[in-house]
Amino acid sequence: MRKPIIAGNWKMNKTAAEAKALIEELKPLVAKSKPEVVVCVPYTDLWAVKEAIEGSKIHLGAENVAWADSGAFTGEISADMLKEIGVEYVIIGHSERRQYFGETDESVNARLKQALKKELKPIVCVGETLTEREKNRTKRVLKKQVLEGFKDIAAEDFANIVIAYEPVWAIGTGKTATAEDANKTIGYIRSLVRKTWGAEVAKALRIQYGGSMKPANAKELMAERNIDGGLIGGAALKANDFAAIVNYKNA
Ligand code: 13P
Repeated sequence: MRKPIIAGNWKMNKTAAEAKALIEELKPLVAKSKPEVVVCVPYTDLWAVKEAIEGSKIHLGAENVAWADSGAFTGEISADMLKEIGVEYVIIGHSERRQYFGETDESVNARLKQALKKELKPIVCVGETLTEREKNRTKRVLKKQVLEGFKDIAAEDFANIVIAYEPVWAIGTGKTATAEDANKTIGYIRSLVRKTWGAEVAKALRIQYGGSMKPANAKELMAERNIDGGLIGGAALKANDFAAIVNYKNA
């Protein structure tokens, strides 16, 4: 059985003071949560959030990690810097990083290897754009993202990896993939993993859906066989909405 994992991706939102307030509001609402709960927050919020989640079941995540140990990489943040704060998860290869900051499957692969080397748990994002979808290229795009993004990753490393399937056209648009469609595509991603890394790895791997996931559609999405959680953008910025997604079973 795969334990569901609901992660918030705050993106470039919330100052440290605002972050603290949001966590204080969220804590009692997710105290009895069944899924694993993660908040991936801006670097400048990490210390405040680390302190605020103390004694709760909320896990701490960052939104990226550098591929190098240290050195002349202005603006980057290393795995050691994150580890010292107590960061457990890191998002890698979010479509916004690919779209606005030149991230490629190659850079995703390098960051992924570094995260694993430093024992951070990567949440690796994949997903097709609207144009790719309309041109019937979804499978081809996902195959490339998985095979190149996870190149040379050992089967045993997948125990610490989460994949997030985020169709780019569904991010922040209010459009969600239908539960059935998301399930099917995630099933395809699982089959790609099966072919390269084996049935056991594919069966145990947690794959989230992301893209306009909200309280109103969480239960339906989470009911699907292949969907093991959600990566939540907008709705993660409101304690009530995020908690309602975490507690989707009670909806
Ligand atoms: P939204 O939930 O705002 O669509 O964002 C999804 C996302 O990109 C999470 O990483």
